[in-house]
Amino acid sequence: MTRIIAICNQKGGVGKTTTAVNLSAALSMAERRTLLIDADPQGNATQGVGVTVGDEPTLYEALLEETPWTPEAASGYIMKTQLPFLDIVPATHHLAGAEIELVNCVSRETRLREFLKMIAQRYDYILIDAPPSLGLLTLNVLVGAKSVLIPIQCEYYALQGLAELLNTIRLTQQSFNAELQIEGALLTMHQSSTVLSKQVVEEVRNSFQEKVFHSVIPRTIKLAEAPSYGKPILLYDIATPGAVAYMKLAQEIMGIKQ
Ligand SMILES: Nc1ncnc2c1ncn2[C@@H]1O[C@H](COP(=O)(O)OP(=O)(O)O)[C@@H](O)[C@H]1O
Ligand SMILES: [Mg+2]
Repeated sequence: MTRIIAICNQKGGVGKTTTAVNLSAALSMAERRTLLIDADPQGNATQGVGVTVGDEPTLYEALLEETPWTPEAASGYIMKTQLPFLDIVPATHHLAGAEIELVNCVSRETRLREFLKMIAQRYDYILIDAPPSLGLLTLNVLVGAKSVLIPIQCEYYALQGLAELLNTIRLTQQSFNAELQIEGALLTMHQSSTVLSKQVVEEVRNSFQEKVFHSVIPRTIKLAEAPSYGKPILLYDIATPGAVAYMKLAQEIMGIKQ
């Protein structure tokens, strides 16, 4: 069964895209067939794996497609990346229009799910990079996914807004996707030397209990630099602590004991 994981937190700058890019790269390097869906109009996940969009159709066109899907038609939205086991459905700034244009469409909440149905069986993992909002795009992401990974930045106010996210997840479960689960909370940009990071780790472990990944992503400049080269950290500098952390996270997700 394909694992479809949404990477969600309506706060911007918490490490969603960094996690989507590097976790999907790590899974693909373990030879798991992986698809990254860029559902953020900023298109940072697309750029982060080094994909440039020209005339190719993107997630925007896929969400607004009116004719019923066939697997062949859905394939036209998938692009290859530099990693053999990693594909992407890219996004550009046009995707911002979908938030408004979808409002008047029938089955506006299940558009992504219908698209994914056509291609899911070809992959072991599908990771979706969600936008920093709780609008219709994020709703499509939550309806299309089987679980949610919540990146939480180790900083003051880390837990602010999480009640709202958890409430949106609950409403999605009630109305559209009863099977949706919490995959786990992921602590990001952790600085082991600071008291603040320690406090956030404690707080997040208290609220999410066992639903917190053991892997903690450190704050390292290499993780911030890699996107400017269009490379996941594993291709930019595999020995760096950030790369090791995302490989450990991939192992945790794959259920490999460490
Ligand atoms: N672990 C990390 N260490 C250092 N910088 C990071 C780390 N994770 C993310 N960043 C940087 O922080 C910024 C926000 O991260 P990003 O993944 O784009 O967050 P989001 O997708 O939630 O908005 C980016 O500039 C990114 O390069
Ligand atoms: Mg992002």
